[in-house]
Amino acid sequence: MKTVTIKDKEFSISISAEKIQEAVANVAEQINWDLAGKDPLFLVVLNGAFMFAADLMRHVTIPCEITFIKLSSYEGTQSTGVVKEIFGLNESVAGRTVVVVEDIVDTGITMERIVGSLREKGASDIRVATFFLKPDSLKRDVPLNYVALRIPNQFIVGYGLDYDGYGRNLKEIYTLQSKSSEEIK
Ligand code: IMP
Ligand code: MG
Repeated sequence: MKTVTIKDKEFSISISAEKIQEAVANVAEQINWDLAGKDPLFLVVLNGAFMFAADLMRHVTIPCEITFIKLSSYEGTQSTGVVKEIFGLNESVAGRTVVVVEDIVDTGITMERIVGSLREKGASDIRVATFFLKPDSLKRDVPLNYVALRIPNQFIVGYGLDYDGYGRNLKEIYTLQSKSSEEIK
């Protein structure tokens, strides 16, 4: 089985690049259908969602705008629960359909913060497109309109997701080997 070592941890391949691309195309198809004529603003959450967003937008065929925000709640392999500031939301979202594009919704704390901020700013329709959802880890009630793949509560890297800054460039998904998964969560 294909494995990668990142810093002190070993990961083994769990989702192929083909399966990822298939899931992206399915999400885009739903969005094209649901949001035709709604002039959506896609709000991409950096850094993790850069790869999903780039692939997704190649399949989105309706007129739309794309912008990027940055914030993080994660260090190493464990959620700190501390969500930092949101940077870069300069566009006016009042009265608009906004689609937040995320790599993964884990506890939902990050998404709750983003959605809350968009509500405050008067967005009229707030939707979430996340590549991954860890349903067993979810603690907050957040909209989850478009979920590409649901995965178990294990730490993964690749396709934009990192371990301590590394692994984002992998085109497949790799899961932390069980030997060390005891250490997390
Ligand atoms: P939440 O606030 O707990 O939902 O965490 C969301 C953020 O945690 C995501 O945007 C990711 O950056 C990070 N994250 C959650 N699970 C993983 C994982 O398995 N690998 C890498 N990053 C993760
Ligand atoms: Mg993220």
